[in-house]
Amino acid sequence: MEKLIITGGNRLEGTVPISGAKNAALPLMCTPLLTGEPVTLTNLPRLADITTLSDLLNHMGVGIMIAGANGSRMKGRSLTFDASNITDTVAPYDIVRKMRASILVLGPLVARVGEAIVSLPGGCAIGNRPIDLHLKALEALGANIDLEQGYVRASAPKGLRGGIIDFPIPSVGATENALMAAALAKGTTVINNPAREPEIVDLADCLRAMGAQIEGDGSDKITIEGVDHLHGATHAVMPDRVEAGSYAVAALMTKGNLLLEGARAHDMQAALDLISEIGGVVSEEKSGVRVKSNGHLNCFGLKTEPFPGFPTDMQAQFMALAAVVEGKSSIMEAIFENRFMHVPELCRLGADIAVSGSEAIITGVNQLKGAQVMATDLRASMCLVLAGLVAEGETHINRLYHLDRGYEHLEEKLRFVGAEVDRVPG
Ligand code: UD1
Repeated sequence: MEKLIITGGNRLEGTVPISGAKNAALPLMCTPLLTGEPVTLTNLPRLADITTLSDLLNHMGVGIMIAGANGSRMKGRSLTFDASNITDTVAPYDIVRKMRASILVLGPLVARVGEAIVSLPGGCAIGNRPIDLHLKALEALGANIDLEQGYVRASAPKGLRGGIIDFPIPSVGATENALMAAALAKGTTVINNPAREPEIVDLADCLRAMGAQIEGDGSDKITIEGVDHLHGATHAVMPDRVEAGSYAVAALMTKGNLLLEGARAHDMQAALDLISEIGGVVSEEKSGVRVKSNGHLNCFGLKTEPFPGFPTDMQAQFMALAAVVEGKSSIMEAIFENRFMHVPELCRLGADIAVSGSEAIITGVNQLKGAQVMATDLRASMCLVLAGLVAEGETHINRLYHLDRGYEHLEEKLRFVGAEVDRVPG
């Protein structure tokens, strides 16, 4: 197993190209299941999760081809997906256990071919993470749901029909499944209290390009007028706001100055507002968002919330920042239970953190010190990378497969702006 060795202390300065968003790419890659015509996605990041979903789609009979010239290795790639001949409607345990987002094939498959059988998902171990809302949404559209031996079977032999979906809490994945399924359901579907994340809008944009009739995405009510057929389309995956936010924190922590090339400020406003409050300087430029440190940083409080609130996917990175900011900061995790697994690892680097239930109080220390640490989930891994960038001496990060699920060309991007990072055999 490989590990990362980071030698801390370097100031980061320069340009970081922001990749296509993993969390947008995964639902977008399920849209081809809705049509017999080819769908091309551009700006896809090269990540383990994308490969896992490609394997699943391949298993179902979806042809995947590299589309056109792909340019430089640092630019995203374009793939064309051809689901004209779906040969298997089962998403097996061996693939689904690697990635929770596999559940996103459920809605499109049942809408187009009337059946889908998906193993109950795995993914990041950040809490219970049920799929009841996905299933309730499909039931509201007329699907029959059965649970058997660890598998969910959704069926609608006569097709789905429009319905009213009332989400008690906004769920990103359940909203995505509902959107894709409703696009081909007969009649009108209304989704009340959907997730409003930018990835939902990106998915709706792609579905509209395929002929779907969707209004209200990004608001608290989405209306979908089902159509008989969807057609092929080409769609560019939106920039990764979590990757951009992670590098923004790196700029602050290293007292650096980074241009996050391609990032869109309106996708990450809550994080940028907090960065300004902490003492960073944020500016929008033609090619992206610039974040720099003006020296002194203030301690802060944050609570994770659904979009447009502060994203749970940025919580761990801001905890690394809090660990080195003078004074007491507080972080409340309100989306997922058990999303503080990075705390013991940060403490191995010398951080002073007390956790009580879903709140962490972080007392800033003058200097973190390099140590051996273990990445526990995707964003927790980035938190350790950030801490390593400012820790004295070497930080060795083990279990890189988490990072490889979500951060494209991590070492190259960091080295390019001045970090000392090496990937070595473990
Ligand atoms: C997505 C993101 C993930 C992010 C999360 C919250 C992808 C691939 N993943 O995950 O990175 O951290 O949004 O922004 O896009 N819930 C239920 N029942 C359900 C579904 C969810 O109770 O059926 C709960 C969850 O336990 C959680 C909350 O709803 O407490 C929000 O989860 P959700 O938005 O569904 O997260 P994901 O779509 O899994």
